[in-house]
Amino acid sequence: MVDLTKHMKKGLAEQKPGQILAFAAYTNKISDIVKFTIGEPDFNTPEHIKKAAEASIANNHSHYAPSNGTPGLRKVAADFLAEKYDPSEILITNGVTESIYDFLTAVLNPGDVVLVPTPIFPLYIGDALSMGATVEQIDTSDDGFKLTPAKLQAALDKYGDRVKALVMNYPTNPTGVMYSQAELDALADVVRDKPIFVLADEIYSELNYDQPHASMEKTLHDQVVLMNGVSKAWAMTGYRIGVVAAPKPILDQIAKIHQAITTTEPTPMQDAAEEALVNGKDDALPMKKEFQKRRDVLYDGLTKLGFECVKPKGAFYIFAKIPAGLEQDDTKFIYDLAEKGHVAVIAGSFFAKGGAGYIRLSYATSMDQIKEGLKRLEKYVAENKQ
Ligand SMILES: Cc1ncc(COP(=O)(O)O)c(C=O)c1O
Repeated sequence: MVDLTKHMKKGLAEQKPGQILAFAAYTNKISDIVKFTIGEPDFNTPEHIKKAAEASIANNHSHYAPSNGTPGLRKVAADFLAEKYDPSEILITNGVTESIYDFLTAVLNPGDVVLVPTPIFPLYIGDALSMGATVEQIDTSDDGFKLTPAKLQAALDKYGDRVKALVMNYPTNPTGVMYSQAELDALADVVRDKPIFVLADEIYSELNYDQPHASMEKTLHDQVVLMNGVSKAWAMTGYRIGVVAAPKPILDQIAKIHQAITTTEPTPMQDAAEEALVNGKDDALPMKKEFQKRRDVLYDGLTKLGFECVKPKGAFYIFAKIPAGLEQDDTKFIYDLAEKGHVAVIAGSFFAKGGAGYIRLSYATSMDQIKEGLKRLEKYVAENKQ
């Protein structure tokens, strides 16, 4: 029999399945484990949004929507994002996951360079590499996990006009850091008027605790491809609705990729997302309040146990340095902690350069679980610290 796997795309067989998913599968086999691994809210989707989805189905909204999205959702998405967008500059995708893929596919040629400040959500890197691009990881761990204009300029000097795009994600997964408007403006100045796109992933924009959300779109509108969605702030990860906004000539090109991949998103899910953005403006507030309380408890608990962390200002993650005296290889550490301590966290190095020696904890889990997890962590540290 012919082994057809040998005739598939070059490099695909060598590509490893996601490390986060592999670790999740491993922890599923351990009974009685406290999980700080979850990257989605533990809340249910608000009732009025569920009802909108049900009504949409009952009213036979079962046909293809226009490829770029329903007119209703695109209009409210344009209003939600920034006043400067027209509905014709909005594309509705299968979550921000598809937004990222569509954009990178639409702009990258093999050999182009994508600048990615790290540690970061690893999807951008995997997508760009699979398209034959070169990814320059800019380690931000010495700068409080924020990209600085000097480091950005150094990357531009290194690659010159091969640089096609800069990826920005704020609030940032996995560190929870946020940028001020002045910090983003200083970065915008470095790439302004150069043929460089900025992918601005603002999926956690509504989950900010100590300072208001700032956006690169405000001062670099013409070069920014803005992404957001309802997954995180409305607890709608399973609805799979993401939003891309960009100046029309750019958006029209990205939309061709979307058309080829999904045609359009499910109409009832788009109707539900429209309801979220019209009548659910305050839905995130109670969740945000609860996340903030959990953040404080987890941050205090970790700090007391000797885990140094930059206090997160947004999203629902804490990035903590493994204290001296414990296993410093973060991948070995998480497997050992899961097995002996029955606590699941994610290894920092899964988030690329600058993440080694750290762990990511998600506080999108109940306060009881956070307190129990901290107790177990305390015991593990006491038993294993040398
Ligand atoms: C930074 C970031 N961008 C995008 C996504 C994916 O979002 P969506 O569920 O809308 O595809 C995630 C999910 O964890 C994320 O952390």
